[in-house]
Amino acid sequence: MAKWVRVASVDELKEHNPLLVTVDDEDVALYRVKDQYYATDDLCSHAEASLSEGDLKGFVIHCPRHGGQFDVRSGEARHFPAHAPIRVYHVKTEGPDIFVEIEQD
Ligand code: FES
Repeated sequence: MAKWVRVASVDELKEHNPLLVTVDDEDVALYRVKDQYYATDDLCSHAEASLSEGDLKGFVIHCPRHGGQFDVRSGEARHFPAHAPIRVYHVKTEGPDIFVEIEQD
């Protein structure tokens, strides 16, 4: 079963400046591209690195550790050394609030 969890307000999330949030013990990176919002696992699939500390260029987040790249829309790895995808989450806004959908056991 899934539930929507409020994670931030739209004012907190600036374009090109990803935001780390924690949802039910999961570290999730939030991204804003114009007025669209995306969310992925914060942990890079290559090694230990926080993607929310990376650079977002267009729809692609650049890992701060080794430069791997992921499309934040699909989680698909786009550049070596990252090759495994990262998880993406559904995101919605309601008024000033951003929500992420998470699975519950
Ligand atoms: S930890 Fe992200 S590319 Fe290596």
